[in-house]
Amino acid sequence: MEHQTRHFNGTTTVNEKGHLEIGGVDVLMLAKEYGTPLFVYDVELIRERSRGFKATFDKLGVTSQVAYASKAFSSVGMFQLIKEEGLSLDVVSSGELYTALAADFPVERIHFHGNNKSEHELRMALEHKVGCIVVDNFYELQLLERLCVEYNQQMEILIRVTPGIEAHTHDYILTGQEDSKFGFDLQNGQAESAMKMAISSSHLQPIGLHCHIGSQIFDTTGFVLAAQKIMGKLLEWKNAFDYEPAVLNLGGGFGIRYTDEDDPITPAEYVHEIVTEVINQSEKLGLTMPEIWIEPGRSLVGDAGTTLYTTGSTKEVPNVRKYVSVDGGMSDNLRPALYDAKYEAVIANRMNDKEQEKVSIAGKCCESGDMLIWDIELPEAAAGDILAVFCTGAYGYSMSNNYNRIPRPAVVFVENGEASLIVRRESYEDLVKLDVF
Ligand SMILES: Cc1ncc(COP(=O)(O)O)c(C=O)c1O
Repeated sequence: MEHQTRHFNGTTTVNEKGHLEIGGVDVLMLAKEYGTPLFVYDVELIRERSRGFKATFDKLGVTSQVAYASKAFSSVGMFQLIKEEGLSLDVVSSGELYTALAADFPVERIHFHGNNKSEHELRMALEHKVGCIVVDNFYELQLLERLCVEYNQQMEILIRVTPGIEAHTHDYILTGQEDSKFGFDLQNGQAESAMKMAISSSHLQPIGLHCHIGSQIFDTTGFVLAAQKIMGKLLEWKNAFDYEPAVLNLGGGFGIRYTDEDDPITPAEYVHEIVTEVINQSEKLGLTMPEIWIEPGRSLVGDAGTTLYTTGSTKEVPNVRKYVSVDGGMSDNLRPALYDAKYEAVIANRMNDKEQEKVSIAGKCCESGDMLIWDIELPEAAAGDILAVFCTGAYGYSMSNNYNRIPRPAVVFVENGEASLIVRRESYEDLVKLDVF
């Protein structure tokens, strides 16, 4: 007998009953108590990751802020955990900000992002006195200036720049290239104009620059190149108009291992290499070493999340493939349909059974493209098995939807043998709650 999967993340293991266990809790118990589909988060792993990022900065003696990119998974419970761990928070909408306020998250550690913040959103950020606003474009710069004058309020800002670096990842999740909807271009003078406008404002305090070059990036080359380009530009700005930033925010994007095909370095290695480059550049160019901020999302929560499904129907297409359907799909995990994202899975109630057949895992939505996994080796699946799909913690629940009026799953945190519900399952009443009838 051998386990279906040999590599487990965090506290995930197989118990004496041959069941998958996470955070000291048998996932069969979770499926029974909370139903499926169910998102299960390994809290200890999230804590370990949070501390790992901070410890690397501390070791290097660099002042830092590690902001959780909350788009990866935002909920009050998650924000409270991030608060406990002393991280900062990146929000990109009034909805994420509202959630942060509901979690009583310290406002001074909230960074507000977005390429099209509305006047309402900027007002909300000003009224709640968020720590800083990452300004993305000239429209926003002018709007924010006008609102700050109206409120007679100062606001610290970062200018988001696109350094023109192509990170090697899926095109759809690239945000750092020149042809991007995000940020001011560093090469064509737009970033410099934005910075000069901000410096001349009596209400905006441009404390530094921000860049985010992409997501699910496996090596540090892109980050190092971005840091070099930015530092080069900062030298020009220092000489031309005596500007030196207090903060350099290098974004998120650190890759994780979804399947054997992925080979990321550790979060600590990413940070170490990137920060070392900024230190070296600062020394070489005679610039003051800025505070370094990062905003990881996926690498904090991605592999801490596992989705449990119950298997149902199967369909054999002779000489082609066998489809095994589960009780969720693109309604709780859009990434395979959106990005062709790959996942690994196991049959959680029969972890000691041998893998016997190659099957494809289908979702239950009315779309042929609603396939969670193509061609995976599993023990023979029977209706009623619990299928656990790993690494669904980032951009899973946060991209979930009600396609086909499928209620959104519940989310539980597990730690030290205890489970706590942090998002309840949507009910049918929830589904029609907004319908006027
Ligand atoms: C500006 C910004 N920061 C941080 C992140 C987080 O990226 P990741 O989850 O890959 O770490 C994103 C993701 O798209 C982003 O757009």
